[in-house]
Amino acid sequence: MTVHFIGAGPGAADLITLRGRDLIAACPVCLYAGSLVPEALLQHCPKDAKVINTAALSLDEIIAHIKEAHAAGHDIARLHSGDLSVWSALGEQLRRLRALGIPYDITPGVPAFAAAAAALGSELTLPGVAQSLVLTRTSGKASAMPEGETLENFARTGATLAIHLSVHVLEDVIARLTPSYGAECPVAVVWRATWPDQKVVKAMLGTLEEATDGMRGRTALILVGPALGNEDFDESCLYAQDYDRRYRPQSADSQWANWSEGDD
Ligand SMILES: C[S@@+](CC[C@H](N)C(=O)[O-])C[C@H]1O[C@@H](n2cnc3c(N)ncnc32)[C@H](O)[C@@H]1O
Repeated sequence: MTVHFIGAGPGAADLITLRGRDLIAACPVCLYAGSLVPEALLQHCPKDAKVINTAALSLDEIIAHIKEAHAAGHDIARLHSGDLSVWSALGEQLRRLRALGIPYDITPGVPAFAAAAAALGSELTLPGVAQSLVLTRTSGKASAMPEGETLENFARTGATLAIHLSVHVLEDVIARLTPSYGAECPVAVVWRATWPDQKVVKAMLGTLEEATDGMRGRTALILVGPALGNEDFDESCLYAQDYDRRYRPQSADSQWANWSEGDD
């Protein structure tokens, strides 16, 4: 028996991996985080599967369901929104499973920041403009931010920020970012990326409050930084005509001329 943790993607039911879908179809038990996981994914469960929404359950109650399935020899599909590597409460579940000796594996999913970038039609790292992406959030009731991981500190780097779980404090976010990025820095809010009611607002830090005009659904990402909507950036060397590289050696003398896969 194995607990299969599966990234369920950002919302659209077809944004799950084939592996994730097939695991759901193979498991007689499915536990899903109902606040954000699309119910449409549950159609992949076997007809007689035991399907449990964990949105209102405590960690102890979730682990009790897992132990029960384990005792019966049943595999479990455990669904969380987006990918499991960020804000999924994966760590605490895995720690309990390790202590109990219950096997698990992890299937990644499409994270919300990637879905939001796709909705914006943007690459978040552009040559010479921004080469780092910070996935962050502001303090919430459930999780305080560690000292040092402040918006002000991240903003000072000039990187692209993908700010989660924070649209309800948008005014505060704008006030904390503006000193470093400036009022003309591009910013966007994407609500419910890939869901049928997805909404996108693009603005500058100085105009965002007015542009969002009180729109405050909680499932939203704030993306900010000079890379957003920027057309004034260098092309990468990777595809440059004269760039000498492994897959496109420029001459017989190239260090890559006799390179073959497996040499690294
Ligand atoms: C608990 S976190 C889950 C993150 C998820 N594990 C991921 O990989 O993206 C929930 C937050 O992610 C963001 N989020 C999740 N789904 C989203 C979507 N479809 N569109 C915009 N933001 C989303 C919002 O900031 C939301 O408050």
